[in-house]
Amino acid sequence: MTLLLWTVLGYLLGSIPFGVLITRAMNLGDLRQIGSGNIGATNVLRTGNKPAALATLLLDGGKGAVAVLLARFIAGDDGAAQLAGLAAMAGHCFPVWLKFKGGKGVATFLGTMLSLAWPIGLLCCATWLVAFYLSKISSVGAIVAAASVAPWTLMLGRTDLTIVALLLTLIVLWRHKDNINRLRAGTEPKVGKKKA
Ligand code: G3P
Repeated sequence: MTLLLWTVLGYLLGSIPFGVLITRAMNLGDLRQIGSGNIGATNVLRTGNKPAALATLLLDGGKGAVAVLLARFIAGDDGAAQLAGLAAMAGHCFPVWLKFKGGKGVATFLGTMLSLAWPIGLLCCATWLVAFYLSKISSVGAIVAAASVAPWTLMLGRTDLTIVALLLTLIVLWRHKDNINRLRAGTEPKVGKKKA
């Protein structure tokens, strides 16, 4: 299969808006009209339904992982796997089904990194947890975890992943620009608090 096909497959997998589908199926409302309007697990949590948020987290993470693993095992090519993971991120953030207005890519980023190189993925998850524990703000966990991935690739000697890591970081940071503005203004809500 060509790299183009893996890119398209990754994009299509990534573009499945699990948060929107799950909240709709559970009659929790239109996720894009709730909280931050984001389609990710953090915003699903604002509906008050923890299982729905957990399912969104796992499925959004899973789609990045599946894209990478399919490409790796079928194409047998690490380049195809990296491309499929990047495409899944693009699909999540710019899904054709939602007129290209998608999510912020955090769970998909973590799933992609866990499947590209699980030690680096685990370090990113741990970084998210520490930053979140200290701030109680989901976007802080996301921003710090995303910023940590390229340094982790260097520290673990996985320089073959540094470029894809930097691209993933850029996507996550770009998608968090509203959060960054709210953080600078001191209005970003903590988890469990109403959105500012
Ligand atoms: O994972 C998304 C998170 O970093 C921010 O989500 O809804 O607070 O903008 P939200």
